[in-house]
Amino acid sequence: PLKVTKICCLGAGYVGGPTCAVVALKCPHIKVTIVDFNQARIDAWNSPDYNLPIYEPGLEDVVRQARGRNLFFSTNVDQAILEAELIFVSVNTPTKKSGVGAGFAADLNYVELATRQIARVSTSSKIVVEKSTVPCRTAESMRTILEANSKPGCRFDILSNPEFLAEGTAIQDLFAPDRVLIGSLQTPEGKSACESLVEVYNNWVPKQKIFTVGLWSSELSKLAANAMLAQRISSINALSAICEATGANIDEVSNAVGMDSRVGPKFLRASVGFGGSCFQKDILNLVYLSESLHLPEVAAYWRQVVEMNDYQKRRFSKRVVDTLFNTITGKRIAVLGFAFKADTGDTRESAAITLIRDFQAERARISIYDPKVEESQIWQDLQEASPTVPLVDIQKNVTITHSVLEATRDVEAVIIATEWREFKLIDWHAVYAQMSKPAFLFDGRLLVNPDELRQIGFRVSVIGRGETL
Ligand code: NAD
Ligand code: UDX
Repeated sequence: PLKVTKICCLGAGYVGGPTCAVVALKCPHIKVTIVDFNQARIDAWNSPDYNLPIYEPGLEDVVRQARGRNLFFSTNVDQAILEAELIFVSVNTPTKKSGVGAGFAADLNYVELATRQIARVSTSSKIVVEKSTVPCRTAESMRTILEANSKPGCRFDILSNPEFLAEGTAIQDLFAPDRVLIGSLQTPEGKSACESLVEVYNNWVPKQKIFTVGLWSSELSKLAANAMLAQRISSINALSAICEATGANIDEVSNAVGMDSRVGPKFLRASVGFGGSCFQKDILNLVYLSESLHLPEVAAYWRQVVEMNDYQKRRFSKRVVDTLFNTITGKRIAVLGFAFKADTGDTRESAAITLIRDFQAERARISIYDPKVEESQIWQDLQEASPTVPLVDIQKNVTITHSVLEATRDVEAVIIATEWREFKLIDWHAVYAQMSKPAFLFDGRLLVNPDELRQIGFRVSVIGRGETL
């Protein structure tokens, strides 16, 4: 198999950036160039003071070690394609907003444009690696496009190598992955290309963790993994509704269930609902795939995972309104956390956005605090969530603050929407002292000890626990 010496990555986002930075760190003999046509993003990756475009614990350290040595960030996409023997395609694949499959199917426009660019520019053979999450059989379409447009003497081998990193722990996940999955055609050429990529990963990942399969299994496994992870959360959240109605405690139920080694304890934490750029998008993608294959029962099964998540968010907002004497009009509410989970500045599909939109619809006054999310991002998300309301009107009722104490001053209720570590260390006595009374606290992340807070004087509502305000 070909020994790879130059790698190019198309897309310098949450996946391409950290993934290929780690490849560069672990493979000093390989030149890695990460390209994007978003100039601002590339400038940030290249910023002298390491003001990187995404926040991810440990990432800065990786970039400091490898940047300028064998890791480069550039907007010169063509040059990087020309040089490379192996190209990762890590471009975005959002849910389609219009046309066939709108609201469900993946928008493969960026993948197709990237593929056509590779075909147009290449003057030598390439291994093209599909890193983006795509519907089953996308590799086949990529191959058709590449072969129909290739120059004489250029051959393209396509691999599928989905990424399983989670945001907030990306570097840890990349350093020690549970597995690396590589799909290829089961032809001698396909297997040889696969071997070349195995050798890249084997610089730091043991062979027994590198799992090689057929192309379509690889593509489907990525959707399946996300669907099954999200399904666990929706299952536990469905049970949290029963707990709230009965007086059972979801923490105890989830521990009891998770102690069964067949189920396992991870990913059973009830919450205000899962967010992030992947779960909903990938499940809807699976739903669309099932429908296209005329498997409506399968489609309905997976769709319910997303519906349960929407229900969980709706249920939480309703509980806030119900508890605050059935009206929050004009009331002040602090929302702690805006990111979709701790340790990331990413807000895509964050439950906080839906909650705040619901509170705005009730004309509450909202103060927000998040330790990492940029202010401009919050305004953009709130505008997108309420497209018919002018931003100036949104800004009349929403303030963005810079600390927990600033956010909670004079408020009637505090909502915990993200499980930031900082929130575990809050001085609740100080918060209570400056709130309107009765002081309400809604924990959407099972973060606080409700008994301790009740002793201070708070009225506390926790996901998955009955009302013992
Ligand atoms: P992102 O939007 O952060 O980054 C994608 C980048 O690709 C953008 O900066 C865009 O400008 C760039 N791009 C688009 N077309 C390009 C082209 N032709 N040439 C160069 N750059 C181009 O997206 P992301 O979160 O990194 O996700 C990328 C893919 O990885 C998606 O398919 C996603 O489903 C998948 N994925 C994401 C995660 C995650 O945690 N975010 C995890 C696993 C898989
Ligand atoms: C997910 C997958 O975990 C990862 O393997 C894949 O590559 C991309 O999608 P990510 O979305 O970054 O990663 O984060 P994840 O840790 O999976 O959390 C997703 C959402 O589920 C978050 O909003 C999180 O708060 C929520 N969650 C997670 C729960 O509500 N309960 C849990 O027990 C776990």
